[in-house]
Amino acid sequence: MSEEFDEAYWEQRYQRHGPGHRRAPNPHLVAAVADRPPGTALDAGCGEGVEAGWLAGRGWRVTAVDIAATALRHAREHAAALGADVAGRIDWVQADLTRWTPAQESFDLVCSHYVHPAAAGPAPLRRLAAAVAPGGTLLVVGHAPSSPGTAAPVTVEEAVAGLDPGRWDVTVAEVSSRMAAAHHGHEVTLRDAVVRARRRP
Ligand SMILES: C[S@@+](CC[C@H](N)C(=O)[O-])C[C@H]1O[C@@H](n2cnc3c(N)ncnc32)[C@H](O)[C@@H]1O
Repeated sequence: MSEEFDEAYWEQRYQRHGPGHRRAPNPHLVAAVADRPPGTALDAGCGEGVEAGWLAGRGWRVTAVDIAATALRHAREHAAALGADVAGRIDWVQADLTRWTPAQESFDLVCSHYVHPAAAGPAPLRRLAAAVAPGGTLLVVGHAPSSPGTAAPVTVEEAVAGLDPGRWDVTVAEVSSRMAAAHHGHEVTLRDAVVRARRRP
């Protein structure tokens, strides 16, 4: 992992900014599960739990992982505010994705949004892909290389290269732009690198 983006960096960042739950779930995730019945999901690098809470609210049983204890504390509070039934469907795990190995082939959905453990190479993504159950979906959303403020970009090509074409059908592999709320009521254009793939049954 890059020294700049280690546990201490994220911990301080979450302590500095406080909880920030007032945003919609990631639109790429919303699109990926729109026509899917709920199942089991892993949200890798869940931050303050917006996506985990949204999935659990739709009936998914979620394992939500992050390296930052403060992010997980905020995420738990967020889930509790959504209701005991929602909170009860989420398991929070503090772990470093550069080392942590999820159970193989055990999630109907594995998603990760804007997590860039730069120096870790392709191994974390490989482990996330291995956690997808047959017939399940892998969704990886990153900041595209020229996004403003991006320090550790991933490319669509790098993400796709880690998926064995004999086992995966890649359904989305693109860079797309969208407007998102920024501080002080402003909007910014985000460029997302999106890879969505289905593991063959
Ligand atoms: C830019 S934030 C994105 C959070 C959330 N996925 C979202 O879309 O808002 C990146 C998150 O990844 C987490 N993270 C970074 N490196 C990690 C690692 N090696 N293992 C686990 N989590 C990590 C950070 O703590 C942070 O919550």
